[in-house]
Amino acid sequence: PTKIILDSDPGHDDAMAILLALGNPKIELLGVTTVGGNQSLDKVTYNARAVLEAAHATDIPVHAGADRPLVRPLKVAAAVHGDTGLDGVELPEPARPLDPGHAVNWIIDTIMNAEPKTITLVPTGPLTNIALAVRMEPRIVDRVKEVVLMGGGYHVGNCSPVAEFNVATDPEAAHIVFNESWPITMVGLDLTHQALCTPEVQSRIDAIGTDLSKFASGLMDFFREAYKNNQDFVDPPVHDPCTVAYLIDHAVVATRRCPVDVEIHGALTTGMTVADLRGPEPSAEECHTQVAVKLDFDGFWNLIIDAIKTIG
Ligand code: BDR
Ligand code: CA
Repeated sequence: PTKIILDSDPGHDDAMAILLALGNPKIELLGVTTVGGNQSLDKVTYNARAVLEAAHATDIPVHAGADRPLVRPLKVAAAVHGDTGLDGVELPEPARPLDPGHAVNWIIDTIMNAEPKTITLVPTGPLTNIALAVRMEPRIVDRVKEVVLMGGGYHVGNCSPVAEFNVATDPEAAHIVFNESWPITMVGLDLTHQALCTPEVQSRIDAIGTDLSKFASGLMDFFREAYKNNQDFVDPPVHDPCTVAYLIDHAVVATRRCPVDVEIHGALTTGMTVADLRGPEPSAEECHTQVAVKLDFDGFWNLIIDAIKTIG
């Protein structure tokens, strides 16, 4: 299986990413690290532990990381994720205590102690922890297998016309991460806006009939209302698990290689992921970044539904 570290800010869709990682045999979740984003660090860290508890995964460590972006103040997304960051469900009390030690230290130690190119970083929140890790221990860049992140977009934003929340929250961190030479797959809004939890999809989740499926469905109910009220979506886009789906099966998420950089000085465009789609597609040797373009909708939801069933 692909060994991953999920660096997240749960978050309704981060929670779905955790479930997909736990419930698919092709993924080995080494640990969850948390970062201030959708809600305060304390809240998202509690949420990560509660989601793991709901999924009976008390063997997975959780380490708390940065509580705010590198330069800017944290602006949480309470309108999308509620006051707790996971509004809409009853969170189980986590039996496992929070693991000691800062997420950034744990990320570095885990990568440096593993065989080279065996660990994939999967950030689904602001990139603060990953940027700090790279500055503290630059050797992780050659040591990880790849970075598959949810963030950005090459033709649309959600925080602004051109900037997506995770990148807009900490653009300086994103700038650091995109400018390191590791292989990066940007699973941005272009892709994740295809991952809509339609009523048909949700009725398939409901039909599983377990406590965990009720939990997932409760999350989707809240997410649907939030996206209706805030961004005029009929069905909510379930962004973060698209990263894990890509790792499970590349056929579910088609990609296009192209240079990507992050705007940090724009008057109107700060936090924009600027993708250069001119000319022929470069090779992997020429270009270390690629963007996700097309989702296999049924394939994606089959993976999520199978994962919820498998966890039981
Ligand atoms: C991203 O922002 C957060 O609200 C979601 O969890 C996702 O990671 C989408 O822009
Ligand atoms: Ca997230």
